[in-house]
Amino acid sequence: MNVYEQVIELAKRRGFFWPSFSIYHGESGFYDYGPLGVILRDNIVKIWKEAYLSDDTILIDSPVIVPTAVFRASGHLEKFSDLATECASCHNRQKLETVLKAGGFHETLTTIDEAGRFLSDHNVKCVICGKRITEAYDFKLMFRMPGQSSSGDLFLRPETAQGIFVNFKLLNNFYRNRLPMAVAQLGKGFRNEISPRQSLIRLKEFTQGEVEVFVDPEKKYWKEFKDEQEITLVPRSGPEIKMNIYAALEKHVMSSNAIAYFVHKTFEILTRIGVAPEKLRFRQQHTDELAHYSFDSWDAEAMLDGDWVEIVGIADRNDLRNHQNASGESMSVRIDDREVIPSIIEPSYGIDRMFLSVLMHSFTINEKGFKVLKLPRDIAPYHAAVFPHLNKDGLDTMAKEFFEQIRRIDPYVTYDQSGSIGKRYARQDEIGTPYCITFDHEGLADKSVTVRDRDTAKQIRISVNDLLSVPILENKKLIEFSRQQAGL
Ligand code: ATP
Ligand code: GLY
Repeated sequence: MNVYEQVIELAKRRGFFWPSFSIYHGESGFYDYGPLGVILRDNIVKIWKEAYLSDDTILIDSPVIVPTAVFRASGHLEKFSDLATECASCHNRQKLETVLKAGGFHETLTTIDEAGRFLSDHNVKCVICGKRITEAYDFKLMFRMPGQSSSGDLFLRPETAQGIFVNFKLLNNFYRNRLPMAVAQLGKGFRNEISPRQSLIRLKEFTQGEVEVFVDPEKKYWKEFKDEQEITLVPRSGPEIKMNIYAALEKHVMSSNAIAYFVHKTFEILTRIGVAPEKLRFRQQHTDELAHYSFDSWDAEAMLDGDWVEIVGIADRNDLRNHQNASGESMSVRIDDREVIPSIIEPSYGIDRMFLSVLMHSFTINEKGFKVLKLPRDIAPYHAAVFPHLNKDGLDTMAKEFFEQIRRIDPYVTYDQSGSIGKRYARQDEIGTPYCITFDHEGLADKSVTVRDRDTAKQIRISVNDLLSVPILENKKLIEFSRQQAGL
């Protein structure tokens, strides 16, 4: 089994995520987050949100159901579609791009006419049954609710971004009419993907954390920064390079301060949540890959079992002009003596793909052959597990009492008294719990416990009172112990 398959198996068995509606044979493109998945996802979101709040970003929460006028103006109504094929024999539907790639064709086809000509001149085969594909069609990706409003059709939003753009004036007023201004929104996006696959990578309902950074179009400037961290970059023209982003900006690998700044910031957020830096790169999209609204885009891509998968897109877009033209409402602001419509730099984070990348990059097998999720300690669903060594001699009563006390200080703890101690350690390693706290005979007299470190299995003895003084991850002795274990 590859890492993906092992993570999928673990995720279902241990309550991270699983396919939805399975008692009714399932529905492709939908996944449930289970008890541990919800906590892990919240921890990821918290780091994302705090990274932006601490960087002068304001927040908004807008509806997921959106009237036609918004998507007519944004261009989604007309252009948010994929070229698709449906096999005349087995009726399997695929993106045209997928069918071409599987057949070894490298052409990028963008219109129905181009696709039609190509399919009649080449022997392109169905990826399932191998019969020839002769036709392509335009597959609309938005979920439409026809006639559900007096204004016409309603749509489920395919991105959260438009809810920010249509509120630009109100938000900028709140921000005292200053630029640059960054606004973030976390919420659900919906796309009627032609062939949903690979669990959390291509869902029909997914979670995005989008940040719209409104900047002066002449400068596209957010903030000064300097950093020595080398990052893997794949510019549109030229080979892969490793350099720090500041140098990339100076050498014009990146077109603006704002793009460079948010590539750098995204690298920091992703590695902070547990994406492995050596399995992360930023690739500039080719011009024929760009979305209809975008002039430039850098994708953060994670290496997942040998494939590079986009997990965040950082685009340069200009939607305010479209909304000004369509609504008649001014979207301009005054900068010195100029009246400008701001440009937008948009880091768009796919929370589900980030979540899967974190699980896959944290997944290890130890020397005994057991699975260990080496999640960053504060990302793990539980900070600690509490065990009595044996369910007798008062150890169980003491452990239970301690558990009731510690969970009032730190709710991210769990209790386990079943099976051998080795089995309990293995169960916690598998879900990434950084510490296991065991009540044993040795500690009966002096009210102490052993605490075991997930990554090295080494143990220290620590007093119960000391553990009860602060939340687990703030305990100075544990912090020092873990630093020593990590050789820091
Ligand atoms: P792809 O080309 O892989 O479909 P995209 O270019 O359409 O991705 P964007 O439109 O840039 O993706 O969306 C921003 C982010 O939202 C992506 O980086 C991704 O993490 C997430 N995302 C988009 N579509 C989906 C989906 N169907 N399921 C899960 N996440 C998604
Ligand atoms: N906002 C970027 C996208 O979802 O297309």
